[in-house]
Amino acid sequence: MNKMTVRDVDLKNKKVIIRVDFNVPLDGETITDDIRIRAAVPTIKYVIEHGASKVILMSHLGRPAGTGFEKEFSLAPAAKRLAELLGQPVKLMNDCVGEAVKAAVASSPEKVVLLENLRFHKAEEKNDPAFAKELASLAEIYVNDAFGTAHRAHASTAGVAAYLPAVSGFLIEKELQYLGLAVNNPERPFVVILGGKKVSDKILLIENLLKKANTILIGGGMAYTFLKARGINIGNSKLEKDKIDLAKELLEKAKKAGVLIEMTEDFVIVPNFDSNDAKISDVIPDGFESLDIGPKTRAKFKAILNSAKTVVWNGPLGVFERDAFANGTKEIAFHLAGLKDKGVKTIIGGGDSSAAVLKFGLDNKMTHISTGGGASLEYLEGKELPGITALNDKKSSGCGCGCR
Ligand code: 3PG
Repeated sequence: MNKMTVRDVDLKNKKVIIRVDFNVPLDGETITDDIRIRAAVPTIKYVIEHGASKVILMSHLGRPAGTGFEKEFSLAPAAKRLAELLGQPVKLMNDCVGEAVKAAVASSPEKVVLLENLRFHKAEEKNDPAFAKELASLAEIYVNDAFGTAHRAHASTAGVAAYLPAVSGFLIEKELQYLGLAVNNPERPFVVILGGKKVSDKILLIENLLKKANTILIGGGMAYTFLKARGINIGNSKLEKDKIDLAKELLEKAKKAGVLIEMTEDFVIVPNFDSNDAKISDVIPDGFESLDIGPKTRAKFKAILNSAKTVVWNGPLGVFERDAFANGTKEIAFHLAGLKDKGVKTIIGGGDSSAAVLKFGLDNKMTHISTGGGASLEYLEGKELPGITALNDKKSSGCGCGCR
């Protein structure tokens, strides 16, 4: 990464504002997956240990209306969890801007403070310069470590960088290191596993990966449109009719690029989506739909993965949230965990695939599990992320004579 990081700035006695992504799933006030909070801890600890006088954290949570405080979107549960993880108090402010907040931040005895949800103000998502300037006025250095929100050009992810020295934290650095390795310089063979609900969500991703991968394995809901494009009967399975021609085009492109595409060849079928009366079948008869890849497909995918040196996985291979259709996703996840132990780089590209891997308890069993859904998708599509672009470039190490 050619962007400056927290290592490149003197933090001693400085007030440091860090954009984190604490947009975590909640059940009432209980956090059901705290990976994003845990992932922010190394940067926060580093900043504390390197002498910052105040650490001001800011984040969004969910999609509130932007018209002021709403209890269900409060960052209170995140503040509590972070305090447990850091082993020190974290003071939650009752807002993120304004004179009262400024005074409260300055006078709080706690070193670490968390501003209340940025999206209680519409100005955040509008990337309003006055709002960004107010956030910046709380500190002397800006650190962005919110990889999950780096694809948004908001005041706290992009705008604020105009007013302060702006560097990345370790999470962004790590995400770019692993996702970047996969898309820019993968050790080959490079195999991509693609799943998820819709082809339309992944068109740009497939286009970009066709230029990079050796093999693409397609499963999940999106496979059925591709199977239809190959003339295979898919019964009542999920079909995006208007994407059949596009699927044909992508298959043709893959052929020309020498990229092998393999997809589902046996199925876990049910008479309707709500049924759990699942059967394994080589075909999808009319009146049935498929909700998972079958055992032959799992075996074929695993055999291909055995020869890979780098694997990127984006999108589950079945309806893994329901036990009857979780086996395909689960078996492939465990297989990848085993391959990682043999030195294969296994990179889980965020969103639902990360949720699946976490559900199966494989948190520490992959080379990298991205904390960004939309952000990792956009990065893998080859797009620029505004939250990264806004950061200061590393000074190039020229010869020092001014000849550059
Ligand atoms: C995410 O969960 O993808 C990020 O936190 C961004 O949230 P958003 O999609 O509401 O901008």
